[in-house]
Amino acid sequence: MFDSFLKNLESLDIIQTSLITTIISSISVFIYFYTKENFNKGENTSHILGPGHIPILGSGLFLKKNFNNLTHQLYLYSKQNSFKTFCIKNLFAPNTYVNSSPEVVEHILKNKFNNYVKGELTKERVHDLLGNGIFASDGESAKLQRKTAANIFNVKSFKDWVANIFQNEMDVFFGKLNEYSKTGKEFDLYDEFCKFTLDSFCEIGFGIKLNCLESFEPVAFAAAFDKSQVYLAKRSFNPFWKLSEKFTKEGREGKICFKEVHDFALNFVLDLKNEENRDKRKDLLSLFLNLKNSDGNVLHSDEELAYIVLNFIIAGRDTTAQALSWCIYELSKNPSVELKLLEEIQTNIGNSVVTYEKIKEMKYANACFLEALRLHPSVPGNKRAAIKDDILPDGTFVKAGSYVLWSPYTQGRMPSIWYNS
Ligand code: HEM
Repeated sequence: MFDSFLKNLESLDIIQTSLITTIISSISVFIYFYTKENFNKGENTSHILGPGHIPILGSGLFLKKNFNNLTHQLYLYSKQNSFKTFCIKNLFAPNTYVNSSPEVVEHILKNKFNNYVKGELTKERVHDLLGNGIFASDGESAKLQRKTAANIFNVKSFKDWVANIFQNEMDVFFGKLNEYSKTGKEFDLYDEFCKFTLDSFCEIGFGIKLNCLESFEPVAFAAAFDKSQVYLAKRSFNPFWKLSEKFTKEGREGKICFKEVHDFALNFVLDLKNEENRDKRKDLLSLFLNLKNSDGNVLHSDEELAYIVLNFIIAGRDTTAQALSWCIYELSKNPSVELKLLEEIQTNIGNSVVTYEKIKEMKYANACFLEALRLHPSVPGNKRAAIKDDILPDGTFVKAGSYVLWSPYTQGRMPSIWYNS
């Protein structure tokens, strides 16, 4: 009796295993054809495949494993393949062709500008943080936001009033550095630069004084803001992000961060709308608030304006703070360069007020800043989706809907540009 029971169990085991194998195989075949059918139909397959490529999953596992060091890993892979185009495949995602040569970047951002857009997949993934702001929009909406911003970000505004904001903020910054040097307390320079840029750009963009730099405590908004950006970055490589965010602790935390950050920006909008003299204000948010459509109605809802605010905070705060931090890091590693830079500062500025004209004359300082950006670009990678089929300058065929990705980090290390010239 026990023997026949064991036999039954064995046959049950075999049935179960066969069933599971069949189900997994069917799902794999379905995923393979679904992905091929929906994203990469009719595509040329002769290209170099992306790092860690395996059938069906493509480079998905590699991207997940190397998430914290992806920019550098993609550079190493480009180098290994003599900087030729390679194609990253991932589940439920269109192909992404990677090439960082100046010819490809010029092709995407200039020669074929109208054929390349942010793409629906990107927009969906960044929507929680960026909504319809400038980094997540194309066409007329992006054009209008660019045109509106150009009223503020130009040389005249810089000379008239923006420079003053930076000067005042710099005084606070130096006061704080003095405090630190008196107490000898360790501090994170990047955090201080982030406070500096957050204060400055909130005043320039929205006429609001946050005074974060004066505080020695972490800024709650900034922490939520940083976390939100990490969640967005993770989404771009996770084909199951919607599911995993719904059912994981991290996913739930992400939702809270997005809301916290959005509410912060929404408060800016509501405060400004309730201000009596808002017609006289010249900050960026006031310009956006006054935009009307052809029927004379306001163009953007409060929610949309909050997203616009967040896009500009990301644009100004993170990029500038990162560039300044890397610049100081590189200077600390190159004392002879630091010495030459100090000489230029003494000659051109000394104890006088910093002005646009004086900064323009400081060629060495400019070169130091650009060199830090070459090695550590604040936007190390970028991508666009093709609207119509296209051919890259190196002959790579790009099917409509596919992405082309380029990396300024890789470009800044390409021997053909930097070492052989
Ligand atoms: C070192 C500092 C900065 C770096 C390295 C940098 C880099 C970049 C890059 C690479 C882009 C292109 C992004 C894309 O096409 O997807 C971009 C776009 C943009 N940046 Fe900056 N940026 C810096 C500072 C700023 C500042 C201070 C502002 C103003 C607050 C700003 C506002 C913008 C805006 C509005 C766009 C979108 C432009 C458009 O789509 O037409 N950036 N930036």
